[in-house]
Amino acid sequence: MNSALAELSEHPNSYQHHLNTVPKQKVLSVRNLRKSYNAHQTVLHDISFDLHSGEMVGVIGRSGAGKSTLLHVLNGTHSASAGEILSFSDDENEPRDVSRLKGRALNQWRSQCGMIFQDFCLVPRLDVLTNVLLGRLSQTSTLKSLFKIFTDEDRAKAIALLEWLNMLPHALQRAETLSGGQMQRVAICRALIQNPSLLLADEPVASLDPKNTQRIMDVLREVSQQGISVMVNLHSVELVKEYCTRVIGVAQGRIIFDDHPSRLTQDVLHVLYGDEISQLH
Ligand SMILES: Nc1ncnc2c1ncn2[C@@H]1O[C@H](COP(=O)(O)OP(=O)(O)OP(=O)(O)O)[C@@H](O)[C@H]1O
Ligand SMILES: [Mg+2]
Repeated sequence: MNSALAELSEHPNSYQHHLNTVPKQKVLSVRNLRKSYNAHQTVLHDISFDLHSGEMVGVIGRSGAGKSTLLHVLNGTHSASAGEILSFSDDENEPRDVSRLKGRALNQWRSQCGMIFQDFCLVPRLDVLTNVLLGRLSQTSTLKSLFKIFTDEDRAKAIALLEWLNMLPHALQRAETLSGGQMQRVAICRALIQNPSLLLADEPVASLDPKNTQRIMDVLREVSQQGISVMVNLHSVELVKEYCTRVIGVAQGRIIFDDHPSRLTQDVLHVLYGDEISQLH
C-alpha cells in the first residue's frame, strides 16, 4: 500500500460525523469483512461500514479494486472469508449475521437484499411480466415456482412496478427483444418485487446511453428516497456527485474514503484511480 493510501485508510469514516446530524435507521453493519477467492490473493481486506435506510451510496474505484466482489459478498452470491454482515430488520430484535447463512435462510436474505447486475440477467425467451415475477421465486414454494404459479397479488405488484417504470406496454414482449435501457428497468422491477430493504446495483448504467443512464439513476434515487438503502457501483464520478448521498472509495480491496461526494477531492481521486484519473468523467 502506498503512503497516501495508508493515510486515507486510517481515516475513511468521517461520514459518521455527517450521520450524527441526520439520524437514519441502520439497515446493515459490515464488520471486518474479508474475502479471498484463493490462498494467494485477498480481494477485500477488513471492510467495515454501516448502511442506513434512504441512503444512496456510490462505490467507486479502479477496475479490479473489489467493488463487484463487495456487492456479491453482501448479497451472499459469494461467501465471506471472515468478518460479519449484520442485518437489522423490524421483525427481529437482534441483528442477524447474514454472512454465514446457507440454504433456505440464504435465499431469504437474497430476497431482502435485491441485486441488479450489469448484464441484467433476464431470461431471454420469457416475457417481461414473467421475468419480473421470477423475482418472487425465492418466496414461493418449490412446486409453485416449478410451474411458475404466481398469486394475483404478485401479478398486481409486477404490473404496478412495470407501470411505474413505463414498461407496461412491453409486459408481454420477450426480454431478448428489449433495448438495454428497457432490460435494466425490468431488472429493477424484478429486484423490487421482493420488497428488499437493500438494493445493490453493479454498474447498472455501464452499457446505457445518456438518456437511459439518467432514467435509471433517477429511478434508483427515487427507490432510495422511499427508504430503501441503495448501494451502486459506478465508474462515473460525475454521476456519483449528481446522485449519491454518500460515496465509498475502494482501492486494492480497502475502503479509503467514506464521506459525502462533495468531499471527493482531486487528491482522493488520484489515490483511487492513479494515472487513470485523466480518463474519468
Ligand atoms: N470468481 C473469482 N475468482 C477469483 N478471483 C476473482 C473472482 N472474481 C473476482 N476476482 C478477482 O478479484 C479482484 C476484484 O475483482 P472485482 O470484480 O470485485 O473488481 P471490480 O472493482 O468490480 O472491477 P471492475 O471495475 O473491472 O468491475 C480482481 O483481481 C479479480 O480478478
Ligand atoms: Mg465490477
